[in-house]
Amino acid sequence: MATAAQTPRFTHPAARGTCPFAPPPAYTQAQQEEPISRISLWDGTTTWLLTRHEDIKAVLADARFSADGSNPGFPFLTAGIRQLNTGQRTFIRMDDPEHARLRRMLTGEFMIKKVEALRPEIQRIADDLLDRMTADGRTGADLVREFALPLPSLVICLLLGVPYEDHEFFQDCSRVLLSRESSVEEVTAAQDRLVDYLIRLTESKRTQPDDGILSRLVERGELNTEEIGAMGRLLLVAGHETTANMTALSVLALLRNPEQLDHLRRNPGAIPGAVEELLRYLTIIQSGLSRVAVQDAEIGGTLIRAGEGVVCMVSTANRDEAEFPGGEDLDVTRDARRHLAFGFGVHQCLGQPLARLELQIALDTVLRRLPELRLTVPFEDVPFRGDMLIYGVHELPIGW
Ligand code: HEM
Repeated sequence: MATAAQTPRFTHPAARGTCPFAPPPAYTQAQQEEPISRISLWDGTTTWLLTRHEDIKAVLADARFSADGSNPGFPFLTAGIRQLNTGQRTFIRMDDPEHARLRRMLTGEFMIKKVEALRPEIQRIADDLLDRMTADGRTGADLVREFALPLPSLVICLLLGVPYEDHEFFQDCSRVLLSRESSVEEVTAAQDRLVDYLIRLTESKRTQPDDGILSRLVERGELNTEEIGAMGRLLLVAGHETTANMTALSVLALLRNPEQLDHLRRNPGAIPGAVEELLRYLTIIQSGLSRVAVQDAEIGGTLIRAGEGVVCMVSTANRDEAEFPGGEDLDVTRDARRHLAFGFGVHQCLGQPLARLELQIALDTVLRRLPELRLTVPFEDVPFRGDMLIYGVHELPIGW
């Protein structure tokens, strides 16, 4: 049985190995040798590492494990991320009932039916972006800059009522907030700028309402401006960086697996299933999900004591042989719906219906409209985002 006194296996986050799509080998090895083990963090503290699908589901569904970063022992990935927890908190870092009360105010906005009604608009945005990218006889572009990033950014701006003209500003802030390498000062400055911006924007909705989420939250009258601003910040950051990176990384993974790409070109009806498999295979939340035990709990035969932190590596859970045989391979025909790429339990991703729809439209549009799609730099030169909380590629130079 593992104990908290055990020597840490390595310092989290560990570096990737030779395959840029696979979780770092240190985690895969831990899953095989010691699936519940100890690791150390940047500040010298130690925490539990969970790597199996079953154990991670158990923790994420268990109210004895808290997502509230103000609890002692919460495992923060960097000093900057710990700093983020000291300002106006968002409900991703709260427990029920507070978390449920705030989340409930948004659930109607992301219901499958409501999101599905956005399909024509999202398709139009995708088509416009590709029209522009391929205009004037151009034959190459950076897919991240011209398609993968603007698509979800335009959509989340539309939903929230945020002016898209400000995209460079909020994308810059998000980049700093989501970098593992940002200093505490940089994170504080980016956070303050984004908070100020969203507070001012929320204030403006009081006199100039529109049909966006921020305006609707103002009309409900249950939250003050700071609370609405914090919700807006969570949605704005979560709503564009994640889908953007999944889109670009998915295109790259398909280019590296041409038989899978061909299958999708021949069977566009298989795209929704392929999106689930790509979410599983790529698991862009690369540093795992953090929780802290607030009561003693036994997980997979290990006693985790109150006050001990837990890092749930959803990337290794999504390749757990017990759940996904042959999971190290990308197989777009696999039923991958049990993946944990959107988390599990009460904090499971609120925006997942939107993310799914955007990914399905993005892949379908790129594959259909760019039949000669190819990478224009050697694969080894693609800049992967090992430095960020959300994995992906900084750029994806493609030709068609
Ligand atoms: C491929 C895209 C996405 C991935 C992989 C993803 C992943 C995740 C994961 C793993 C969590 C759980 C965090 C935890 O348990 O600690 C989460 C929560 C959340 N996500 Fe996403 N997400 C994506 C897209 C989106 C989008 C498009 C939105 C909004 C428009 C969004 C909004 C949220 C919110 C608000 C939460 C917090 C939910 C809560 O605490 O109750 N996400 N996401």
